[in-house]
Amino acid sequence: MKKAVCALLCAALLGGCGESRSRNDGKIRIGVSVYDSYDTFISELMKEFNTDVADTGDITVEVYNASGSQQTQNKQMENMIEKGCDVICINLVDRTSPKKIIDLAKKNNIPVIFFNRELVEEDLSQWEELYYVGADAAQSGVMEGQVAASAFADGTADKNGDGVIQYIVLEGEAGHQDAVVRTERSVDTLIEEGYEVDKIASAIANWSRSQAQTRMAGFLETYGNSIELVLGNNDDMALGAIDALKAAGIPRAAWPVIVGIDGTTAGLQAVVNGEMIGTVYNDKKGQAKAMADLAIALARGESLDHLNLKNDKYIRLPYQIITIDNVSDYLD
Ligand code: GAL
Repeated sequence: MKKAVCALLCAALLGGCGESRSRNDGKIRIGVSVYDSYDTFISELMKEFNTDVADTGDITVEVYNASGSQQTQNKQMENMIEKGCDVICINLVDRTSPKKIIDLAKKNNIPVIFFNRELVEEDLSQWEELYYVGADAAQSGVMEGQVAASAFADGTADKNGDGVIQYIVLEGEAGHQDAVVRTERSVDTLIEEGYEVDKIASAIANWSRSQAQTRMAGFLETYGNSIELVLGNNDDMALGAIDALKAAGIPRAAWPVIVGIDGTTAGLQAVVNGEMIGTVYNDKKGQAKAMADLAIALARGESLDHLNLKNDKYIRLPYQIITIDNVSDYLD
């Protein structure tokens, strides 16, 4: 009888305060696997995440680099489970192949927070302990279009004066939600803002500065001075375009308008010095904090109410426009 009362009391207490999931003597262990640790935005996001988690004390974080291989990431998931991680954060390599990760999470009863590379809702609904932290790709595209539109307002950026914006797009990875949607929405926004546009060319440069430089060098050879606008799906690719303009010795006054997305350290610097007309802040600080808060609350078995999850699963941080007028607010 006494035992039963005690069990009830304990259950009530645990129910009220939450039950830690810790599999390591009360210490929390968080595992993270990123799709590619050389990606600038992801590495800056992880830096924020590590700082946020370090601030909270006795939590261990282990970060793995999947180096662009889903198979490697699946193995890392197994490894993190074996090593006793209480919560696992996954930046999917292939956002269409989360099955193995989800099966392992369910089987071992370990919550997974997917981030940045968004899996489809059907996959995220496979189990209640799966979450997503990221941002709304469409919003970044609209904002990029708005920044570009404002640069053409006074007519000076229309180099040939034909009233049409001749543009190129440097695209992220094929099939990545941010690449597809940003490209579409940025151009649609220019049109909605009343501009006539003419797409000269586009190229996939996989978020990479060096790949973008190569692609832009090719465009400069073929189309030369007729390019009036470069829409980069991210800052690194916009910076690659700038590298190509510099390498080709094109004078600054003859450069096209260049816009990026992310607000990385180098991207912000390019806004400060006027090489990029603007960028769109992909809130790495907000996303890192949301991931850290969610991971810790899950590990400690605490309520998630204060995190305002949408559909009990999603946290999306808003994007913000950055131009020379407000860039100082974003510099560390
Ligand atoms: C995007 C970001 C890119 C790249 C990509 C990786 O959100 O803008 O720079 O980091 O994620 O998935």
